[in-house]
Amino acid sequence: ITFTLTDRDGKTHAIKTTPDGTLMEAIRDYGLTDEFALCGGHCSCATCHVIIDEAFLPRLSPVSRDEGGLLDGSDHRAAGSRLACQVPLDATLDLAHITVAPVD
Ligand code: FES
Repeated sequence: ITFTLTDRDGKTHAIKTTPDGTLMEAIRDYGLTDEFALCGGHCSCATCHVIIDEAFLPRLSPVSRDEGGLLDGSDHRAAGSRLACQVPLDATLDLAHITVAPVD
């Protein structure tokens, strides 16, 4: 699958990857590691906060209570906000545009 990612500096990357694991792992493996996914995917740090195109949201798994609680604590929560470690990387994200949220 291919998706585009806008990083915290506003730079956009086209990321081509195999659909496996989580969105957080794909972003981290691509090389975006600065202040990103500090808890390693345990749904406890919120540094993997991303904003996904709203058009893709209905296809994704629902936000869990833990994930929603962490997102509520962010000053940057938007309609498309998700924690990337809680989003499976599968074909539903093909061609999505994803933006890494600023650090709170
Ligand atoms: Fe920490 Fe997602 S990596 S909440």
